[in-house]
Parts: sequence; structure tokens; C-alpha cells
Amino acid sequence: MQFDVVDLIRTKRDGGTLAPEEIDWVIDAYTRGAVGDEQMAALAMAILLRGMDRAEIARWTAAMIDSGERMDFSSLRHPTSDKHSTGGVGDKITLPLAPLVAVFDVAVPQLSGRGLGHTGGTLDKLESIPGWRAALTNEEMLRQLDEVGAVICAAGSGLAPADKKLYALRDTTGTVEAIPLIASSIMSKKIAEGTSALVLDVKVGSGAFMKSLDQATELARTMVDLGTDAGVHTVALLTNMDTPLGLTAGNALEVRESVEVLAGGGPSDVVELTCVLAREMLAAVGKHDVDVESALRDGRAMDVWRRMIRAQGGDPDAPLPVAKHQEVVRATRSGTLSKLDAMAVGVGAWRLGAGRARKEDPVQAVAGIELHAKPGDHVEQGQPLMTLHTDTPERFERAITALEDAVDYSDGPVELPGIVLGRVDAQGRQ
Ligand code: URA
Repeated sequence: MQFDVVDLIRTKRDGGTLAPEEIDWVIDAYTRGAVGDEQMAALAMAILLRGMDRAEIARWTAAMIDSGERMDFSSLRHPTSDKHSTGGVGDKITLPLAPLVAVFDVAVPQLSGRGLGHTGGTLDKLESIPGWRAALTNEEMLRQLDEVGAVICAAGSGLAPADKKLYALRDTTGTVEAIPLIASSIMSKKIAEGTSALVLDVKVGSGAFMKSLDQATELARTMVDLGTDAGVHTVALLTNMDTPLGLTAGNALEVRESVEVLAGGGPSDVVELTCVLAREMLAAVGKHDVDVESALRDGRAMDVWRRMIRAQGGDPDAPLPVAKHQEVVRATRSGTLSKLDAMAVGVGAWRLGAGRARKEDPVQAVAGIELHAKPGDHVEQGQPLMTLHTDTPERFERAITALEDAVDYSDGPVELPGIVLGRVDAQGRQ
């Protein structure tokens, strides 16, 4: 059936509800190019301002899934469990997590993306490993899942193509932060991917899309409902993103830190979140009370990491690239660090060259920020707080400007929130 897109925009603009056939039509027509970018941008803005009800979100998601192919993991020896983070600063968790979960005979298909704006992309991080390649065919991916147990690769162009086009449009029209659009974007890709279980890491705080716990809970509930209705065992954790995760933000720097975690060391927040998410991913496929920490300590997770990197052409023993220029930022007074703002560090790392402003921009593998103190640590005036890394030193000035208000000090003790702020599962659904 043929509809008039202007009628749909008006309906949403005035707070109405789109009919299922209207949703199917507009997603298909936009993917084919019959609805223009300016029209879809107006509709996305109306959705951002007016919202969508549960039935509309479910249909919008289904229409985006139907715009492309569905993958099938049913031939694999092991069940599949996947993780998706809504994006944060220093969030390298996928790197140690995928091999760690694979240790326990669960296949981990991580179809990942590149960074846009202040949040880093998993593929950009792994591409700092000499030789590693992100693009695999579906057959290569399935073979690696069976033989190694974990794969982190680029989502092929066949998976939810409507989302690819719409996400790029939202990115340039101020319409990313709409809960119905974020939920349908993430879940259309995950449902089309065909994983049997999914753990969502919904970030909350200054460095995340969702700044408040209420907003993040609504996003988590929406995604858990979409996954559950599609037959995917879906759980969401709400986790803190006021402060960067770990002590690094930037591609090669984050790979180095991930390898430290796989070697049984690394910053305690990265280790904790990796283990919490691993336990959730395992429990989601019926493996309860697994001692995941021991697989980090005894080298089993590292063995899978090495095989995973090699299977995609990378050399796990090759030295990671290092920036030609460094600049140290020092504490301006003595005291206890009470704030280290994730957004400021993300923007700083991005300005040093770790991220891209447009999706076709290159990134510097070496660029980023290394943190020497975190909230709760006592520092003395003049002590190094951060080291900035880049190959293009003319970038230091703008990065330092971004970091001007990143840090606060306190004279007394500082109370810190935990990493995990909440959990949403299929139980208690209305
Ligand atoms: N990640 C996605 O894949 N889509 C969104 O809309 C936001 C984050």
C-alpha cells in the first residue's frame, strides 16, 4: 500500500500513533530511497519529541529487521551469547569479555561498530593490532565461532540496512537521543544477528547518551521487552559512565589495557565489569555460578584472545604503536579527586585524533589519554593526572581546553558509586 509520508510526519508531530502498515511502508520506502532524508529527519524529530508506544516500537524494529538478512547460528556446537554496550568512554570491555566467555563453551558473536563522536568503537581499537582485519564473510565468522569460540568483526552490510541509513541521518540531525529510535536501532541488529542470549550494558552518566538513571532504565526496559518478545533471552545492566572505565581512552592504549586484564592484571573497575557481564552472559544460556575470575588469572581467556586475533590476521605478539608526542596534565592543587568527567575525557581523546567527526574520517591508533589517578585517589599539587598521546601535536591545545573542567578536588573523603547501578530482566513485565 502507498502512503503519503507528510501525513505520517503530521500524525507524529501532533502526538498521534502510526499504524503498523504505515511503519512497514515508511521504513521500506526510506531504505529504497522513495522517502527523502529531509522527510525521514522530520519524522525522526517528531518521534524524538513525541515518543512511540510499545506496539509502534516493536513494529518499527521488525520493519528494520525485515529490511535485510537474518543470520543463523543454529549449526554451531555451542549456544550463543552476545553483549552490547550503549557506548561510553574507555569502554574496552568487549575485548577481554568475548574470549573470557568463550572459555566456557559458549560462542560469542560480537558484531561491532566504529566510533563516532566522543565514544570509541571496538573495531577501531582492534585495528591498532598489526594485521588484524574487521571484515569477515558470514562463512568465515561461523567457522571462527566454531573453531575459536569468539569473533569480533564488522556487521556486514546485509544486516538491518534501514538502520545503517537511519543512524547516519540521526547522527547529523540531532535525533540520536530518542529512546524508541535507540532501542529499535540496537535491537534490530541484535535480533537479525540471531544470538540466543543478549546482555545489554546500558551506560548512565555524563559520558553516556542517557544522563539519568530514569532515562537509562526506560531504555533498558524497552530493549529487554523487544528482545524477549523476539525470543532472545535478554537482560540489561545499568552501569556508571560518569567516569571513564579503566585508565585509558584511545585505541591502542585500550588494547594494551585489555591485554593486561587478560593477563590477570588491569584496573579493578575493568576487571569487575568484565566479570559481572561474563557471569550474566553465561547465566543467560543456563551456566550459573561459573568462576570466571580464574580464567583471567590462569591464562585460559588469554589463550582464546590470541587465537581470536590470529584467526583474523592479527599478530598478538606484535608491539602496539606508540604516539610520537606526549603532554602531561598535572593536578592544580592537593586533595582527593572527586570528579573525573567521562565526557570531557572522551572529547579530549577524540580531539587528540582517537575518534572521528564524520564516518569517513580516519582515526589515529596511537591517540588518546592515559589516566594516572581516578576519583577517590589522593593527589598532590603538580602530580601528573593524565598523559595525552597524539602523532599531531597541534591537537594538544584543543584537547587541553576540553579537559579544563574535567577534574574536581575535595578536602574530605569522597563517596563513590558502584559500577553496576541496576538490572532489568524479563521478569515483572507488564
Ligand atoms: N547504538 C546504536 O546502534 N544505535 C543507536 O541508536 C545508538 C547507539
